[in-house]
Amino acid sequence: MNILHQLQQRFALALADFTEDPTEFAAMIRPAADTRFGDFQANCCMPLGKRNGVNPRELAARLVDKLDVSDLCEPPEIAGPGFINLKLQDEFLQQQLQHMAADQRLGVEPAGEPRNIIVDFSSPNVAKPMHVGHLRSTVIGDSICRLLRFLGHNVTSDNHIGDWGTQFGMIIYGYKNFLNTDAYATDPVPELARLYRLVNQLSDYHAAKESLPAQRERLATRQAELQSQEATAPAGDKSAQKALKKLRSELEGLKEEIASQEKKVATIDADAELQQLANAHPNIARLARDETAKLHGGDQENRTLWNQFLPQCLQALQRVYDRLGIQFDLALGESYYDDMLGEVVGDLQNKGMAKESGGAQCVFIEGNEAPFIVQKTDGAYTYATTDLATIRYRAEKLNADEILYVVDARQGEHFKLLFATAEQWGYSRIKFAHVSFGTVMGQDRRPYKTRSGDTVGLESLLDEAVSRAADIVAANDDSKIDDAGNPTPELDAETRQRIAEIVGLGGIKYADLHHNRESDYVFDWDKMLATTGDTATYMQYAYARVCGILRKGDVTAEELQAIDGPIRTTEPAERALALRLCRFSEALEAAANDYRPNQLTQYLYDLAGDLTTFYANCPVLKGTDAATRENRLRLVELSGRVIAQGLDLLGIAVSDRM
Ligand code: ARG
Repeated sequence: MNILHQLQQRFALALADFTEDPTEFAAMIRPAADTRFGDFQANCCMPLGKRNGVNPRELAARLVDKLDVSDLCEPPEIAGPGFINLKLQDEFLQQQLQHMAADQRLGVEPAGEPRNIIVDFSSPNVAKPMHVGHLRSTVIGDSICRLLRFLGHNVTSDNHIGDWGTQFGMIIYGYKNFLNTDAYATDPVPELARLYRLVNQLSDYHAAKESLPAQRERLATRQAELQSQEATAPAGDKSAQKALKKLRSELEGLKEEIASQEKKVATIDADAELQQLANAHPNIARLARDETAKLHGGDQENRTLWNQFLPQCLQALQRVYDRLGIQFDLALGESYYDDMLGEVVGDLQNKGMAKESGGAQCVFIEGNEAPFIVQKTDGAYTYATTDLATIRYRAEKLNADEILYVVDARQGEHFKLLFATAEQWGYSRIKFAHVSFGTVMGQDRRPYKTRSGDTVGLESLLDEAVSRAADIVAANDDSKIDDAGNPTPELDAETRQRIAEIVGLGGIKYADLHHNRESDYVFDWDKMLATTGDTATYMQYAYARVCGILRKGDVTAEELQAIDGPIRTTEPAERALALRLCRFSEALEAAANDYRPNQLTQYLYDLAGDLTTFYANCPVLKGTDAATRENRLRLVELSGRVIAQGLDLLGIAVSDRM
């Protein structure tokens, strides 16, 4: 049961006498910040009193009169300017706990109205460097799927792989001109990635050389403008000073841009071999685009190459997914929709939505300057066209009620236009959401890059996590001692390796999930794998400790689960732990509601903290009578189960020994 939800519903009923918007005010119930005054607190009387012109304390008294929570709470108490403090009855809490302990679903009720939810995540562009952002999408998306599924929805995970983009033209061009056959025969994917990078680098070189003179000229003009403005702008004139500031920052940007272009040119100029290649391929960018066009147009040779490259790229990706324990129900890449694109544009034209503009077919969305381009001047379809075809497919073939896109925040504009277009196009009954996330930064606060910047880099990142975790696991095991102080390591090499895998990969996933997904965060190995603090390792140790206590107590989880009767909460630390356990449903629903796994990590972190306080105050095995011991063992076992289930919903594994 979601207790917070229950309380809010009861409040909404009582509030109906005082306002037109009972749910809005009922939502203002929070877990109490200071548990001395209760478990939950309702803060609605202050804003409602103000709105109705009534004294909030008086309003609180009248509301409490109306409120029926007698089966859940002690009589509510009014405090301060009009807070209502709620304390759950111990019997109610104990009943909930007992029910939870006996339930495979840990008291979490399945959704009353299951929805068909498509989760579009991971979706890397194959043969192109896969960056940590795709890892982020993969980890967050997987957790959201697990959460929604656990809550009873019909979830279809779909890896919308970028397998049809312009990178293929580049690789094909590279393959035809620069292939190292030996390298390709030994391991094709790194060679394809090299070709991609090479073609990209050579194209950038020519583009930079061509644009630099104009950019330098622009810089000079703007610099002159700045100088003259600096000379004339009155010091006290705020708006003139503001304009100066703007101009200066524009100049900085321009300088940075020029420096980066110059660097691209210099790198090639400094390398005789590269320079020779660059000179021999002056039109490389256009020719690579032509290869893409030929591929899309059905050219035999290019299709054959594509059919040869794709399985190899997908295999390399699969290695990463297998390692992370991530599965997809569908992996319909962009190419899957290719033959539907013409129809999409035709339909948009028939409905009067797509219009010609400068030779391109565009959908104009009110309030947006930039059009949504569905067909370019050269006739090519776009990322947008494919996404529209995908929506049609998901609506019509998969019966989607809801489509989630777990994609980098930098694509926000695209999704805004996509959703608006889809709604006008006739899919307004579908709930669309861009589950966006920020950038992973390196210690230098620039977007984090793996050493080689591709799938291979991502794999070595996972390897590094596991090898760092192996050191931690070994050190911890080596530090175990018995009562006499003799070392008692208990894990053999194979077990240590298995645990290192769980800790390392769990660490990477958790580091990602415990941040508010919208924020950028700094990638930090030490923080990620710390054994204390808000980390997977800490939670995994908390779980292993639970298992250790059960082993020492010579009792199994199954035996404890079979015990009937209430779990008592006499000590404050027991009660606090019990209350936290009973709020598991609330945490899951909060996390699922706006697709924020960090609501769940926060819950688990709080739970682990309550468990530590409980251990410190309530001995379980030593010096307890049989009844207390059994009662506390049941609490410990249930805590372990909630931690393991919670971590599982984040895609993180546990071990019963560490
Ligand atoms: N392949 C895209 C990228 O790497 C992400 C695709 C996201 N999904 C979608 N339906 N647009 O940027």
